[in-house]
Amino acid sequence: MVRKFLVAGLLLAGVSVAFAQNDPIAQRVETMKGVGALWYGDVNKMMKGEIPYDKAKFVAALDRMIAASKAMPGLFPDTSKTGTTKALPAIWEKKSDFDARWKKIGDEATAAKASVTDEASFKKLQPDLNKNCNECHSPYRARNS
Ligand code: HEC
Repeated sequence: MVRKFLVAGLLLAGVSVAFAQNDPIAQRVETMKGVGALWYGDVNKMMKGEIPYDKAKFVAALDRMIAASKAMPGLFPDTSKTGTTKALPAIWEKKSDFDARWKKIGDEATAAKASVTDEASFKKLQPDLNKNCNECHSPYRARNS
């Protein structure tokens, strides 16, 4: 009996994962939440001196951003313009500009990863990377209402 329930539970879990994989809106929101968790978390706290500078934490945030920059351009098919999303129509109207911004942040994160050393260099690199977030959110993401 117990085993039967376990199998049913696993099947259900599998079904919901498959569903998320076919749902580009859920995927892009999860991808961005993952970036935000490290960027607004560890990285922000290190900037403010709330936790000590740790290069590994910065690199982890950069790696996540690099992965997101590669995945995100593919998560805006024409069928995903409406739903539970803050994506603005401008994304589809200016898709090449939108995609270029992903390449830019990915390239800058890759360069930062190669050049960051001590806390001073981290504090110099972070604000420039951070500009990319707002520069894309303001034309392409609806504000929290
Ligand atoms: C090239 C464009 C672009 C860049 C660069 C970008 N974002 Fe986003 N971000 C978006 C879009 C578009 C959405 C809305 C996705 C949706 O709702 O479908 C979003 C959503 C988010 C969300 C919200 C997820 C939720 O809960 O709804 C967070 C958090 C986030 N971004 C953090 C960041 C951070 C931090 C950076 C910079 C390190 C960044 N983003 C850089 C385009 C971008």
